[in-house]
Amino acid sequence: MTDGALASGKTLGILGGGQLGRMIAQAARGLGFKTAALDAAADAPALQVVDFPVVGSVDDPAAARRLAEVSDLLTLEWELIAPAALEEAARLKPLHPAPSVLAVIRDRKTQREFLARRGFPQTEWGAAASAADLPFYPVIVKRRTHGYDGKGQARLASPADAAASADIFAAPCVWEKIVPFEAEISAILARGRRGETAVYPVAENAHRDGILRTTRAPARVPPAVARAAEELALEIASSLGHVGVMAVEMFVLPGGGLLVNEIAPRVHNSGHYTLGACATSQFEQHARAVAGLPLGPTSASGPALMVNLLGDLWENGQPDWSALDGIPGLSLHLYGKSSARPGRKMGHYVVVGPNADEELARADARLSALARRA
Ligand SMILES: Nc1ncnc2c1ncn2[C@@H]1O[C@H](COP(=O)(O)OP(=O)(O)OP(=O)(O)O)[C@@H](O)[C@H]1O
Ligand SMILES: [Mg+2]
Repeated sequence: MTDGALASGKTLGILGGGQLGRMIAQAARGLGFKTAALDAAADAPALQVVDFPVVGSVDDPAAARRLAEVSDLLTLEWELIAPAALEEAARLKPLHPAPSVLAVIRDRKTQREFLARRGFPQTEWGAAASAADLPFYPVIVKRRTHGYDGKGQARLASPADAAASADIFAAPCVWEKIVPFEAEISAILARGRRGETAVYPVAENAHRDGILRTTRAPARVPPAVARAAEELALEIASSLGHVGVMAVEMFVLPGGGLLVNEIAPRVHNSGHYTLGACATSQFEQHARAVAGLPLGPTSASGPALMVNLLGDLWENGQPDWSALDGIPGLSLHLYGKSSARPGRKMGHYVVVGPNADEELARADARLSALARRA
């Protein structure tokens, strides 16, 4: 069953050195692997914890080659990597997920074309090079590539709005009909090298200003909706031939219908709750999947809450950590970032257990208590 699995002491190399790479590396070490990571910043979160930090741009084929040279197997924490660098990495060492998966995902247009071709449900959409291509208002316009945390998108209410936000069209875009969703959920799953799969309890996400703020798992949706979301996500992963962890973000419509918002071919912020709540975290699961080890159990020990800690909390210095004193079932995760900017993800906390919902209701109060007054 473990034929060809990466052996203990071999090195898993990660393209990208952010917090996702850091937590993958920490989990990979728990499985007995050595680790390497590539990032332009020498003090990037993952580079602080790996055996072989490699400094260079993930978009630079020469840097990808240096990572490949110190690694036995490669993976990534981020889908927006220049194709030339990905191809170079994959030419030198096995890379999961494959560049062909990333080629579909990295561009919102090819991602939506894939969903349409396979008949997966999504909102109305189209390509847009300028406001002249927008079919109606209000509408959401998103850059085809390099968007994250709500960056590179604009919600346009009228032609006048479009004229004022014309800079969004400096790069090719897609337009999307605004979905009147009742909830945003994500299904986190893993698919192994032989096509075996495992799926986590579907999570419920709350965003503000395009950035994920909290995740609650399991999502408070009817069991049939949760099952449909899991199945949809598993079908998407299989039809892409994905290997590793994947997140599928979906909108829940009034009545329980689902629309796919976007696919992330990697570990995902909305899956952070699994580290603490589930026997196998998404990070360990990803390392297992790409390394050819059996996938681990995904059930959760109880309801869970994840709260992101953004750079805004650092505005007047280190947060007042005493605000998290004495909360049962809480674990704190900080990413080792030395400079905090508003909106930058600095860490998160997870609460597992019967008080998860109470803590969800208190999240805003906890965050204001964490932030020091000026
Ligand atoms: N078509 C839509 N209708 C309604 N809301 C939307 C739509 N598209 C995006 N949003 C809202 O904006 C948020 C961010 O959008 P999206 O997931 O496309 O962007 P992103 O920048 O790639 O985010 P991330 O990478 O952080 O998940 C969504 O989670 C949702 O709250
Ligand atoms: Mg998103």
